[in-house]
Amino acid sequence: MVLKTNITEMFGIKHPIASAAMGPFRTTELAVAVADAGGLGMISHTNVSMDGYEKNYIDAMLKNLDFVVEHTDGIFGFNVRTSRNEVICDELISETSKHIMANPKLKEQCLYALSSAGSAARVPKNEDFQKLRKDSNIKHFHVAPALWLADKCVAAGCDGLVVTGFEGGGHQSYEKVGGMVLLQQVQQKHPDIPKIACGGFATGNGMAAALAIGAGGIAMGSRFIASIDSEFHENYKGVVPPAKAQDTLVRTGSLGTIRLWKNKYSLSKGLVKTKEEKIAEEKALVDHRTAISEEELREELRRDAKAAFAAYQGDMENGGVLLGQSIGIINKLESVSDIVETIIKDAEKALKKAASFVV
Ligand SMILES: Cc1cc2nc3c(=O)[nH]c(=O)nc-3n(C[C@H](O)[C@H](O)[C@H](O)COP(=O)(O)O)c2cc1C
Repeated sequence: MVLKTNITEMFGIKHPIASAAMGPFRTTELAVAVADAGGLGMISHTNVSMDGYEKNYIDAMLKNLDFVVEHTDGIFGFNVRTSRNEVICDELISETSKHIMANPKLKEQCLYALSSAGSAARVPKNEDFQKLRKDSNIKHFHVAPALWLADKCVAAGCDGLVVTGFEGGGHQSYEKVGGMVLLQQVQQKHPDIPKIACGGFATGNGMAAALAIGAGGIAMGSRFIASIDSEFHENYKGVVPPAKAQDTLVRTGSLGTIRLWKNKYSLSKGLVKTKEEKIAEEKALVDHRTAISEEELREELRRDAKAAFAAYQGDMENGGVLLGQSIGIINKLESVSDIVETIIKDAEKALKKAASFVV
């Protein structure tokens, strides 16, 4: 028995499960494991290195693409964050597109371009991506953490949306709408565009609920961090199974609203702002960024990247440990193949049970 949805059909994958984008961390081994398990692997927008800031992160992306395609015959994608402060983002999209075009195996398997945290139009506007889109089966999705952002994705001509609720780990919308409501909102307004539900998913029951209200698949971050195959530090993985759903908090970081595990670092960060405060803050941030030098800007990004990298290296006190509320429903570290198999089996059971209510 398999679950056949618009997402499995679109990508030619066995299971409608994707790994979420988890930059700045490297998720190549995880992408291989998820693709091998019949899901949709994800190469994250990696831009940290040992000194806290990867200067040549275009190289990092190309190397990650080569690593994944050499280690799996499954289907996978890549994430590009398109916010204003992602320096050389357009070059990254161009070089990534050209690299995929130049390798027939990559062109066959790298079918999922996911942009996030910025404009949905930046990828489709890129001329090299346009050539790739014309010459391959690659699909462009953008992360929609709010209804108005879903509208923008649709207007930008996205092939699909990753609808991400407030319970998710990492960067979230300041509007604080949970995934159940958000997915229904987006489904009401844009019923036909393919959707991957994201944020708070870790079980088959959750997946069944998402499929029942309009998604064609789910994406998971925290669940896959806590897997034997992920390259996250053992200390990072170890946080997950004993944690409760209440053990995360939302703070404001250099890239906006962010959900982190409660520790010394996150407790010391600023509280999440209202929309008006956020707009004023963003304006002040743009003014500030215009006023400072390129080197000073890099130093600021480096500071946040260092906290992320501290976590990646296992410092669970001073590191920024990005995790979602789903940690409260993850009880053990498992292999990616076991995770995928269990979720699919349980989702099938839940969907059949729900169908039996219809008489
Ligand atoms: C460690 C970590 C890093 C993340 N980095 C990114 C990123 O670079 N780009 C992005 O679009 N989302 C990022 N996110 C958000 C995830 O893609 C996804 O929305 C989130 O993990 C879903 O919630 P879950 O952890 O409950 O599955 C990150 C999340 C985590 C946990």
